[in-house]
Amino acid sequence: MAVLKWLPSQAEYLHQQAVRLARAGGPQAAGVRERAEASASALRELLDPGQRAVVDGYASNRTTLLVVEGMREVGEGVPETRPSLESLKVDFDCQVLASRSQLLLNLCDNRAFAYDLDYNEMVRIVGNFKGGGQHKIPEEPAPEDVELSSHSGLALGAHTEPPYYCSFHATQRRSPAPSTLILTARWNPLQEPTQVIPVTPVLEALGEPVVDALTRKHYQFTRPDSYVPGDEDGRDVSIVDYNPHGDYAFRFSAYRFSACAGAPETAHRALAALQAGIANAERLQVTLDSSKAILINNTKALHCRDSIKDNRRILVRLFGYNRFSTAIVQSTDPMLVQG
Ligand SMILES: [Fe+2]
Repeated sequence: MAVLKWLPSQAEYLHQQAVRLARAGGPQAAGVRERAEASASALRELLDPGQRAVVDGYASNRTTLLVVEGMREVGEGVPETRPSLESLKVDFDCQVLASRSQLLLNLCDNRAFAYDLDYNEMVRIVGNFKGGGQHKIPEEPAPEDVELSSHSGLALGAHTEPPYYCSFHATQRRSPAPSTLILTARWNPLQEPTQVIPVTPVLEALGEPVVDALTRKHYQFTRPDSYVPGDEDGRDVSIVDYNPHGDYAFRFSAYRFSACAGAPETAHRALAALQAGIANAERLQVTLDSSKAILINNTKALHCRDSIKDNRRILVRLFGYNRFSTAIVQSTDPMLVQG
């Protein structure tokens, strides 16, 4: 885990730039991509050598989790009740946070993007909008009808962010999983943590034969309920991939993956060993608020959460691709890719 802590003058500059980008429409607006990149270049000039080393470490895919601290708080105090998803999507303070996250992605040599699978939405508002949390919402559905996604309040087991078809390079039809997810909080009244599980120690403990089995395309997964309808679950994918630089990427969900029918016994055993390794792995706990963000390296860390307690806990999430990933790009400004 690495920490990037801003000095007050740097934090002020970052905030002013985020407000400027939000006024221009935020990450989804045409033209903001270029402005965010320019702001990130200017911000980079303000870094001291230690900060620059931290940023470069993340950019080169060596860092599992980057915590960004000491930013300006954004927005007023916690409201009586949670606003609707629709109003949060256009909330100016959410746009400031999202713009700040886009800028931080750029600073770390990642580019913000959206999948067509996610309705081309660059900014995801994460909260209990569809039930399943500890405290019921007014329209609480029956437990069996609660959506399994970041728009519900359910506890979510360890997972990397989908899609799970490939890492690093697009296949003929599919773009890779995100390199990074960046999270910050609009509100987190009960200081409910986000948990991050570094993958490298888990794979090291499993040993080479098991990891080798995880590189074979013997696995399948189910899709999130929140994706655009019309596609099927995925089949014949691996869990671990290597690239020519000797780097690895990991894609997995404890509640979505299984071995394909007809997969060899080694594939089943490797999956069971992986599940056990993750269950016993070290968990880093980060409590987000509007002055803090985390860049989770989605190729080297899982994340999870307990069931949401306070329904006013609202996170803002963006995805980024680093320079090692190639996607099927449908539009460059804003950057939209085929999932
Ligand atoms: Fe997630």
